[in-house]
Amino acid sequence: MAQPILRTIDTPGVFEDALSLLRSGEIVALPTETVYGLAADATREDAVAKIFLAKGRPQDNPLICHVQSVAMAARYAPIPSIMHTLAEAFWPGPLTLIVREGEGIAPSVRAGTGKIGFRMPRHETMLGLIGALDKPLAAPSANRSGRPSGTRASHIAEDFTGTSLRLIVDGGPTSLGVESTIVDLTPLEEGGEALLVREGAISLEELAPFLPIRLVETLEAGMTISPGLTHKHYAPKGRLVLLEGTLAEQKAQLRFAKGGKVVCILASEIVGEAGNMPVLDGGPWAHPEVAAQRFFHLLREADAMGAEQIYCSTWSKTSGLGRALFERQRRAAG
Ligand code: TXA
Ligand code: MG
Repeated sequence: MAQPILRTIDTPGVFEDALSLLRSGEIVALPTETVYGLAADATREDAVAKIFLAKGRPQDNPLICHVQSVAMAARYAPIPSIMHTLAEAFWPGPLTLIVREGEGIAPSVRAGTGKIGFRMPRHETMLGLIGALDKPLAAPSANRSGRPSGTRASHIAEDFTGTSLRLIVDGGPTSLGVESTIVDLTPLEEGGEALLVREGAISLEELAPFLPIRLVETLEAGMTISPGLTHKHYAPKGRLVLLEGTLAEQKAQLRFAKGGKVVCILASEIVGEAGNMPVLDGGPWAHPEVAAQRFFHLLREADAMGAEQIYCSTWSKTSGLGRALFERQRRAAG
């Protein structure tokens, strides 16, 4: 089966190879600061179609357009002034802004929503490629639909063997580990509040000083706001069971772990409590940013260990990133 080539970011010629593949309408897996993206020229329907095919992604799920600047986004959509303000404050970074569509982006990227989500990633290679191509790159998280998001090049190789993906640019483990925060700005047009569709490293509290905004409950969001949120997500092969509450409570719940092959992913403080069950260190409880950086990788590790059941800690939810991690965990647990 066709195996994508994996090349580290500093391999001579890798930038040129990635660029020439993108120019000829092929897909390339690229690192960002959040998770790896499966990228293609966002203006070409034939190129974007390869993303949907390789991922097994439902056609009703739109893709984020990665740009090099607000000016580049402005070529494809009318840009409200609040977007300039937010970009000034948070770009490049893990914030996707949804605005009304204009002309020039391939229809399946927008998936009939009438809107486009733009983000300027904080990653030199990806920004360099967008600049050299002089076009936005459509890129969903680089994982087969439903699987944990890819945060290391090896995850991409695992998911995309046998697809049209030819090149994975390896930038090492991604620094944040959870996908970008998504804000839909379009309700502001009618004097409403912007909608925080998905929380990531940038929190509601950080955004609130800039605009009227509220968090959307996932179910309410449904098909109308962000179709992707209604699909099954992040699932490991084993059954994921979340340990909740304080560390003492999580320790107590661990005593009931049984049945099939169990693998534990635990907060560092209670790693010693797994007894004779195999255990992976998920990071200190009070540091969800460490746990978030590791989480998708550890789910895949547990799978590789043949886990039928994964007993997994939850982490402090006082920060935006803590809530973002918990939301991914909840969805992974189904
Ligand atoms: O950090 C990230 O956002 C990563 C990196 C690669 O940039 N990308 C990512 O893409 O997480 P994806 O496709 O896995 O998640 C994007 C989410 C989906 O739930 C999709 O439905 C929503 O964004 N989305 C994208 N464009 C949209 C639009 N025009 N209207 C509503 N929702 C949109
Ligand atoms: Mg995804």
